[in-house]
Formats: sequence, C-alpha cells, structure tokens
Amino acid sequence: MSAVVQNKGQENSTLHFSALEPPRRYLFGPGPSMVHPRVYEALSKPIVGHLDPYFIQVMADVQQLLKTAFGTDGGATLVISGTGSAGMEAAVANFIESGTKIAVFANGYFSDRLTEMAKRHGADIARLEKPWGETYTENEAREFIGREKPKVVAYVHAETSTGALQSGQAICAAAHAAGALVIADCVTSLGGVPVEFDQTGIDIAYSCTQKGLSCPPGLSPMAISQRAMEWLRARTSPVRSWYFDLKLIHDYSTVSHRYHHTAPISMFYALREALLVIAEEGIENRWARHRRCHKLFVDGIEAMGLRMHVPAEHRIATLNTVCVPKGVDEAKVRKRLLDEAGIEIAGGFGPLAGKVFRIGVMGPLATEDNVQFFLKEFQRTLSAEGYSI
Ligand SMILES: Cc1ncc(COP(=O)(O)O)c(C=O)c1O
Repeated sequence: MSAVVQNKGQENSTLHFSALEPPRRYLFGPGPSMVHPRVYEALSKPIVGHLDPYFIQVMADVQQLLKTAFGTDGGATLVISGTGSAGMEAAVANFIESGTKIAVFANGYFSDRLTEMAKRHGADIARLEKPWGETYTENEAREFIGREKPKVVAYVHAETSTGALQSGQAICAAAHAAGALVIADCVTSLGGVPVEFDQTGIDIAYSCTQKGLSCPPGLSPMAISQRAMEWLRARTSPVRSWYFDLKLIHDYSTVSHRYHHTAPISMFYALREALLVIAEEGIENRWARHRRCHKLFVDGIEAMGLRMHVPAEHRIATLNTVCVPKGVDEAKVRKRLLDEAGIEIAGGFGPLAGKVFRIGVMGPLATEDNVQFFLKEFQRTLSAEGYSI
C-alpha cells in the first residue's frame, strides 16, 4: 500500500508515501532493544476504553508483575504514560519542592539530566562529581550524605552513558540515617540486572519499557516505598506538574480508577505481555542469562585485543562500553555495521564521545548464538576500518 496526496500550497504537485516497511535491524545498542514477538502480538490486540473493567484488570496485572521485576513486596508499583524521562520528571516533581535539598551522585549524562530537572523544580542542589565510568564507594556515599544532610538523594543505578553500575546499598543506608528519601534511576537495569528495590532500600525507582523489558518505548514503570507514599500524602504544596502528580496517578491506577488521563492501552498490553514473558522465564534465570552472555561478550572483546571502559566489578551486564581502539573512527564502524549487517550499536557522548562503543546485549538478543554472531560481525567491521588484532 502507498498513497499519493496533494502537496498543500503547491499547485499541481503531489507527494508520494510508500507503505511503512521499516528495515530489519539487530538492536545491539543501549536501547531500544529487540521487542519480543509476543509483545508485538499484544500490541495488535483490539483496544478497550481506559476505564473499562478489562483495562483496569490489565493495569492491576502490570502492577503485580512489576513487583517481581523491581523486587518489592511493600512498595507501590505504577506506570507513568511517557518514556523513562517522564518517570524521572515524576520522581523529581513529586519529591522536590522549592528549596528542597537534593544530593546527586554525578558520574554520567543521566545524573546531569536529573540535576537539571531538580534545578527547574527549585531544588537546592549538592553534587558529588566523578569522571564518567567511575562509581562511588560506601565511604564516599556516607561522607557526602553525612556532610550535606539532604532531604532527597539521587543516583543512577545503571548509567547508560558510561556502562557503570552503581550499588545503592550504602547510599540508601546513609540517606535513611539522615532521614532522606532515595530516588534511583533504574531505566537501564530493570528486567536485565537485579534492582532489588526493598533489599537495597530505594524509595522511588523509575524505569522504561524499551531496554531490559524488551518492549517498545512509551511507558515508565515506577516503584514507590511506603515511606515515600507517606511523604507524598503529607505533602501540602500542590505538585507543580499536574500530569505527573503521583497521588492522582496512583488514585486512577490503583484506588478509585477515576479518570486522570487516557492511558495508552496498547502499550499497557505490550508491557503486560513483556512482564509475563519475564515471569515465565523467571527473573533470576533472566539475570543469569544476561550475565552468561555478558561474560561471553567480554571474553570475545578481549580476545580481539580490545578493552572495556569500566572495571569488571562495576559493569552493567546488559550494556557494555568498549574502548575504541587507536586509529579507528567509531562513527565509521557504526555506519558500516548498520549498512552491511543491519546491526545498530551506539557511540559515546559527552566526555566519552569518540572514545567508546556502547553495545547492548539484552532481552531476546542475549543468547550465546547472538553474541557469537555479533562478535563475528564486529570483528569483520573493525578489520574493514583498519583495526588489526
Ligand atoms: C539511565 C537513563 N535514564 C533516563 C533515560 C531517559 O529515558 P527515555 O529516553 O526513555 O526518556 C535513559 C535513556 O536512555 C537512561 O538510559
């Protein structure tokens, strides 16, 4: 199917639109990741209304399934209609009031985005800075929070711009000792590596659908601790963002089911199916599969004489940052991989621009065969771009 339409304002001129036929890609980037075939099927199911009892049940199922993915019993789970940044904005808008002191562990692009949002909400910001790719030790976490005495602490669990995984245990313990709530960005970790919301002591976690959950982008799952829910109930100033007001969204999605906004029905179907696929595999098995493929990947990369950007103990199992070897143009490698093998990977940005490849091995792509396939194509492409092992 294709269409020919009149070009508005241009007499006797027409525009031709061909049928939608996106190219087939192997999405080995940091996200979006490959969508599970069952999730595509779910997307094509007929929609019902956003207040229909059937949809209310879909939302309830999603909330239930998210508890396992986040690793929470007592926390509330809900879903923001919007991508991962919408979850970030909801976390900031609801827990930051004008003048609220927030302590940010900064070590990559997304802690900077979070800082910028907090700034726009009038926060009093304290930042601890580290180079991109490094993580914070327990002592550094304790010292920073003890010194700054913030009301809110924020860190990025899996920093997609660097490939580093930040442990939250010490941050959460120090924050709670100081009476602060903890916001954790779990956009790249949820579904791929353990989040362990309760065990870690996180109060507010937000994520996305397009990475570890193997769904298209469009929703932001969140988990909120009882402590954070109480804080919200006690908040007297109205949340500046009406759309991201968590009390209103929580009421619509779990309590009264009164209209708040028209939820994107098909994306909820997709997320429910993606979470079911994960539940059937078992979340622990899924993490183990990602870990196995990560090891295979790193072994292959090192066998080519390449280096990883992040030390082994702080790597994200689903997202690898590989140092670009001397004399190789990373943009040319990415272009050749896409053109010749249909493989998408990403480059670095900010201080890592031109210095790293960012390669995701997650969801349906995380199998031994797929890793071998990738390594073979990557090696071939690097050689074509002048790299010799
Ligand atoms: C760690 C992290 N936080 C936040 C975001 C923003 O998510 P989105 O692009 O879905 O809005 C991303 C996106 O890649 C991310 O990797």
